[in-house]
Amino acid sequence: MRQITVNPAESIKGQINVPGDKSISHRAVMIGSLSEGVTRIQNFLMGEDCLNTLRAFRAMGIQTEIGDDRVVTIHGNGLDGLCEPEDVIDIGNSGTSIRIMSGVLAGQPFYSVITGDSSIRRRPMGRITEPLRKMGARIFGRGNGTLAPLTIIGGDLKSIYYKTPVASAQVKSSILMAGLFANGYTTVTEPAQSRDHTERMLRFFGAEVQSDGLNHQLKGLPRLKGREIIVPGDISSAAYFLVAAAITPGSEILVKDVGINPTRAGILEALKQMGAKIQVENHRKVNGEPIADIRIYHSKLRGATFKGDVIVRMIDEIPLLAVAATQAEGETVIRDAKELRVKETDRIAAMTKELRQMGAEVEPIEDGMIISGNPPPTLFQRGVQKGGLRGAECDSHGDHRIAMSVAVAALIADGETTISDIDCVQTSFPSFFKLLDSVRR
Ligand code: S3P
Repeated sequence: MRQITVNPAESIKGQINVPGDKSISHRAVMIGSLSEGVTRIQNFLMGEDCLNTLRAFRAMGIQTEIGDDRVVTIHGNGLDGLCEPEDVIDIGNSGTSIRIMSGVLAGQPFYSVITGDSSIRRRPMGRITEPLRKMGARIFGRGNGTLAPLTIIGGDLKSIYYKTPVASAQVKSSILMAGLFANGYTTVTEPAQSRDHTERMLRFFGAEVQSDGLNHQLKGLPRLKGREIIVPGDISSAAYFLVAAAITPGSEILVKDVGINPTRAGILEALKQMGAKIQVENHRKVNGEPIADIRIYHSKLRGATFKGDVIVRMIDEIPLLAVAATQAEGETVIRDAKELRVKETDRIAAMTKELRQMGAEVEPIEDGMIISGNPPPTLFQRGVQKGGLRGAECDSHGDHRIAMSVAVAALIADGETTISDIDCVQTSFPSFFKLLDSVRR
């Protein structure tokens, strides 16, 4: 297991691009595979999670090529073009792959088994197996189908109306993907609006999908046509550099071509609310997704309260938001984020442990965290700590977002920080540490 040492930075400066969006890369492979003809995906995220989705569709007979310069070509065989995989499908660490692909597998008239690593095998699957069973799929798994490995014998699905108790794009997408194989209209209602990349992409490939915020309706058995997809830069990856610049004195960074889909851009709202100097420039649209360039400067941040719908729009950025909160004046309160407890690791427990090791005052609560801001100036004057954090021996908990959030905290800590078990960063952002080195001054 590799570890890394991160030293404090003088400042963060430069102009960068971050790798392609993880959610959109997954969906482009899945929807491209179910379409007729060729789908070319530019700026595909070559991270382990998305490569696992690609391997899974190859195992079901889809011909794919990875070209130079992150272009992936998918030769789709249409809605009924998949074949029974010869072996268990192992999607590694990727919750998006197992949950959304289970929706696809539910529509197949064959036998499949899908599983993943030890983290995946602990994560809740009842949230997808319950609606997929209602649609008619036969699904077996540990804990009465609530835990992977999942065995799925699908086909003959009927469309349903389903009200999901969790605001989860994976759950919504799993049901909508299954709905592709059911005659009639499949409708999902969610309690808060989760990311809508599936709805946008299905429309782009020719499906009929209506959305009015919380209700999403898909007409089954569409003919999807292969398309050209340009994957925007991942806002979840950009966020590490935005927060790094916001909290490190003397910094300014420009992140180009970032997806700013409003259902994903909660971190921009949150940073603005905390007083960050942030500019979103050069707005454009690619394949139904808005993109822009984001510029941010070192800023004096103030604590704030985050709860309700905005949490869903920045669910993956909350560990990082906790890092920003350690540098803000006053207290930051994060609530309604119970979902963090069932991510790749329990992110509330993990961030509390690691930030405390670095000297921050963090109080975990059932559905979030309370983070005390910067220590009073007297402590600085006495030279106790730089930026209120000190270097420490930290651990990723096997979770890419914890590893990268701790690395950002290390930039403004006093002394060096080591982070153990950093291989997990390969899942979503293999070039993260190299890119971080390229902007530190
Ligand atoms: C994702 C949805 C979110 C997010 C995950 C990616 C997606 O998960 O945390 O990283 O691509 O649909 P939930 O659906 O569990 O909220």
